[in-house]
Amino acid sequence: MNIRPKIVAVNGSIRDGNTAEVLHEVGLMAARRGLDFEVVDVRDLRMLGTGTCGDCNSRTSACTREDDLPAAVRRLSEAAGVIFASPVQGFGISGLMQTFIERAGVCHMRYERPLTNKVGGAIAVARRYSSTESWSHLVANLLLNRMILVGSGFPATVHGLHPGEAVKDEEGMANVERMVERMIDMIELLAAHRELTGRDPLPVSAANERAGIAFETLRGRG
Ligand SMILES: Cc1cc2nc3c(=O)[nH]c(=O)nc-3n(C[C@H](O)[C@H](O)[C@H](O)COP(=O)(O)O)c2cc1C
Repeated sequence: MNIRPKIVAVNGSIRDGNTAEVLHEVGLMAARRGLDFEVVDVRDLRMLGTGTCGDCNSRTSACTREDDLPAAVRRLSEAAGVIFASPVQGFGISGLMQTFIERAGVCHMRYERPLTNKVGGAIAVARRYSSTESWSHLVANLLLNRMILVGSGFPATVHGLHPGEAVKDEEGMANVERMVERMIDMIELLAAHRELTGRDPLPVSAANERAGIAFETLRGRG
């Protein structure tokens, strides 16, 4: 049985608003190309935030504080493509999205990088100000997680203040569509390569990135 490839998007908005509407359109684009699509709404996750123990930088295994992050990371790990989507708040990504990125990244994904070779995409939704900076912030975190990014033209930044406005930003939505189309082109290319050769096109290291590094080095490295 052939399992349909899936794109999973993380929505960092505090509400069911513009980012959700843009992602709804992304879901339709994915469906037209025969892919499944899911959204992880960060506002629905129970996130404890990083604790006061301070041992994130010296651990060699995932944080043991129990919240919804391990399950969310598992959902992303099952995808062929991952989109980080955030509204702009206070000239940056939303506080919710920042907490998700820190908690998922520093507490769980930094050890074995489970999103390696997923095809990544970033979308920033803003009234207007700092949309490109916020998009770049998301891109840096996709790259940190060793995802594959495909150039698709101008950044996928969409402008709108009130719900209903962002999806009317024709240029922004055209950039989102081009990004999604190119992500799916790459997902298909990688799948064809795997089928032909039986292996990942780029090596996936099974090594724990933090294991085997001396504790003192880890402490100094941050
Ligand atoms: C707390 C807060 C801070 C915001 N800060 C900015 C900002 O710095 N720049 C900007 O262009 N828009 C800002 N906005 C507007 C949102 O980016 C805009 O309304 C966006 O469409 C919200 O997406 P959402 O409906 O998915 O939450 C802010 C909105 C909120 C609630």
